[in-house]
Amino acid sequence: MCGIVGYVGSRDATPLLVNGLRRLEYRGYDSAGVAVQEDGRLEIRRAEGKLDNLVHVIAAQPLSGRSGIGHTRWATHGRPSEQNAHPHVDCGGVTAVIHNGIIENFEELKGPLVKAGHRFTSETDTEVVVHMLEDELKKGMSLEAAALAVVPRLEGAAALAFVSAKDPGKIVAARVANAGGVIVGYGQGENYLASDIPALLEHTRSVSFVEPGEFAVITANGVRFLDRGGKEIEKTRTTITWDTVTAAKSGYKHFMLKEIHEQPRVLSDTLLGRVERATGRVVFDEDLKLTDAQVRSLGRITLLGCGTAGFASLAGKYLIERLARIPCDVEIPSEYRYRDPVVSKDQLVVSLTQSGETVDTLAAMEEARKRGARLLTIVNVIGSQAARMSDDVIYLHAGPEISVASTKAYTTMLVDLYLFGIYLGQRRGTLDPNAAAKLLAEVFHLPTLVDAVLREEPKVKALAYRYHQARDFLYLGRGINYPTALEGAHKLKELSYSHAEGTAGGEMKHGMNALIDESLPVVAIALRDSIYKKMLSTIQEVRARAGVVIAVADDDDEDIAEHATEVIRVPHTNELLSPALAVVPLHLFAYHVADRRGNDVDQPRNLAKAVTVE
Ligand code: G6P
Repeated sequence: MCGIVGYVGSRDATPLLVNGLRRLEYRGYDSAGVAVQEDGRLEIRRAEGKLDNLVHVIAAQPLSGRSGIGHTRWATHGRPSEQNAHPHVDCGGVTAVIHNGIIENFEELKGPLVKAGHRFTSETDTEVVVHMLEDELKKGMSLEAAALAVVPRLEGAAALAFVSAKDPGKIVAARVANAGGVIVGYGQGENYLASDIPALLEHTRSVSFVEPGEFAVITANGVRFLDRGGKEIEKTRTTITWDTVTAAKSGYKHFMLKEIHEQPRVLSDTLLGRVERATGRVVFDEDLKLTDAQVRSLGRITLLGCGTAGFASLAGKYLIERLARIPCDVEIPSEYRYRDPVVSKDQLVVSLTQSGETVDTLAAMEEARKRGARLLTIVNVIGSQAARMSDDVIYLHAGPEISVASTKAYTTMLVDLYLFGIYLGQRRGTLDPNAAAKLLAEVFHLPTLVDAVLREEPKVKALAYRYHQARDFLYLGRGINYPTALEGAHKLKELSYSHAEGTAGGEMKHGMNALIDESLPVVAIALRDSIYKKMLSTIQEVRARAGVVIAVADDDDEDIAEHATEVIRVPHTNELLSPALAVVPLHLFAYHVADRRGNDVDQPRNLAKAVTVE
């Protein structure tokens, strides 16, 4: 949560900072603020609510300076308000801090500061840091020396950046544990700081990642990196290959709609080079280091991810068990890390994460690593923390996903899990070559099938408009489309703010049937797969109780119309691949319900894209 940006150079910092924040607004939109600095002056502007409010404040009271920091907030400590907006300043108004994360010991730190006469003006955990810095800077220290003295005393997780009129033309950034990215971007005679790559793309492709426990000292002419002892460290530079066009809305009303429509292309990208022509075997690039012998000796796989990535993990269990016959379990990362889990030497932990920054996922990975598991991550953001801490990495190649609600990252995760299942099956001998060849031929056809589903958008939109006022929705799926039902319900509630629940069709009779009446739309995924007949029975049971059924069915299913109230049709594909197709109309449905209701689709209330706090 929260986005941080920084700029030091010879240009006017404010528009650059505001632009950077615009790219990071998906991380939080409770308030925004900037601090710029020049000639021994520090100026601050802050506003509650979305970034546009800050833009108005700046237009009314312009500020200028050639270096500065900016912040967009997702509130943790202290309600969303101007007073709690970052940057926070010290008593003299000369030093400012921005922060992403939570400082767990802020109350302990605050007591002595208050006693010593520091005046606090916010309810945040962050403000203690700037008053601590103030004390250090009074001793005549440089900004980095003050940061080195203060930051090690903070507990919790934090990404921080400081500027001070006492040490002008400089930003010091620091990272404590996993609190979201701290990325330095290199320019010519100017340098940048950001939590995430989209904020840097306009200016540079050359970046370095600040790791937990490290500091960056950024000036116009160079960047130094320090460890927590103040010793200089060497950093490698990474080149980012995304372009700015993929990070923009390109004429779509919302990023979410653009990202849904990008799927045929990004699914093709994720498939690129993944099958070796000569052997017909699935191959991943050099970031996957598992040897064939290690694959054969795997005894168990644990899959984990949060939110949408968690539903992909569940689909992964169905896929890997079916294709590679390895027992899999699925874990909620925030539970796993505190549960004293049992980990064996032959266990692989597969984490799924779009951002590679979700703190619960990272903490669960750390826990598994401590207990001896090998870590593999299926992740979108190149060079993200999840990628850096894993033994093996499979990249989604979905390009930047900006909308808070994840769509293309979900379908590319499903495709990568499908490929990974085949990869394991081929090396363990659980898949014969003909079966593998057939499965692979079908996945290469998937982008065309998704394109066909997208052409049906007007019908899905009409349905969304018909049902947009319903207060509750129920989603049913079975087998590998049980996770699809969970994801469909999840998307609807996060975007439309209606209550929606997903369940396994077979569970209806054990409780959910009690909810059915004519006001409850029931979305049932009823593809012609191995449990189609069972799903039809469940649909009939719902209809017999006056329920309204919206079925997602194969396009050549002539019987379904007799059973369901409404039908959304998708082309037929094999069962294991079908979740990547069936979810597309569900994402479109949630989008259009929310848009019809006038909700802010890309930035749903109380949510953020990269959840970097616990
Ligand atoms: C947040 C987002 C979800 C996302 C989840 C996991 O809750 O709102 O859309 O699925 O985080 O994010 P990750 O980046 O780890 O996939």
